[in-house]
Amino acid sequence: MPTDLLDAQRILAALSSGARRAVARLEVHTEIDSTNRYLMREAATGAPCGTLCLAECQTAGRGRFGRPWISPYGANLYLSMLWRFKAPPAVLGGFSLVAGAVVADALRRIGAEGLALKWPNDLLWDRRKLGGMLLEVAGEAQGPSALVVGIGINVRMAHDHGHAIDQPWVDLAEVLGGLRVDRNALAARVADALIDAFERFDCEGLTPFLALWDGFDAFRGEQARILLADREIRGRVLGIASDGALRLETADGERRFHAGEVSLRREGEGVGER
Ligand code: BTN
Repeated sequence: MPTDLLDAQRILAALSSGARRAVARLEVHTEIDSTNRYLMREAATGAPCGTLCLAECQTAGRGRFGRPWISPYGANLYLSMLWRFKAPPAVLGGFSLVAGAVVADALRRIGAEGLALKWPNDLLWDRRKLGGMLLEVAGEAQGPSALVVGIGINVRMAHDHGHAIDQPWVDLAEVLGGLRVDRNALAARVADALIDAFERFDCEGLTPFLALWDGFDAFRGEQARILLADREIRGRVLGIASDGALRLETADGERRFHAGEVSLRREGEGVGER
């Protein structure tokens, strides 16, 4: 039995004072279908900005492109947070990159060296997947909007469960060289980073986060393929544009792609990865 089961009081106590004020509601579930799906339902019935939801396991954890997110009990971090913005949903696309950058930075601050981001927000270490983010938004075309940011981080993934993951993976225990990870403290660090980012993004947009994202860019300068629904486009990754689009140098000149429409693969990398 793991000794650090998630505990709402311990998470609250570990939050910065500003973040503690911003958390309107904190729920820790033993089992849930998906923390994201749950918060999207709650958002529709008026849950407040700053609702934070964690679960020990998810029975229908979801990743990007409708893929399952393997979510065994008591081992990892499954965290979602609801934030409300006056802005329309279309403006919030850029937060996809922000979430990746600030979570990577939060993990680096607790000692995780060598992290990288695969556009828009896959968290990698040694080219293996450590975590991912799923953003879902609801709202009126002119605003306001409700954004749910869901974060999954492999903390101590047993190999039995890891077998079900269809791409190379790693957990935080390995990244930290076997150091024990307190999931309550980790949840607090991630929530701190997210809340700070929500507030800053609301005032300043994506611009203040671009350099942070750049510093984690796993693909810059590499040959890569962009997968569209019906074809692939090859080129060299130039980095990200000021609106968060991926810049690719192709035989026909520079092209830009937006998250949600496409996925990115390093040239020669396996089919399982997205
Ligand atoms: C991805 O890389 O494909 C995104 C994975 C996102 C997983 C998290 S776990 C918490 C939240 N609840 C979900 O069902 N998904 C996200």
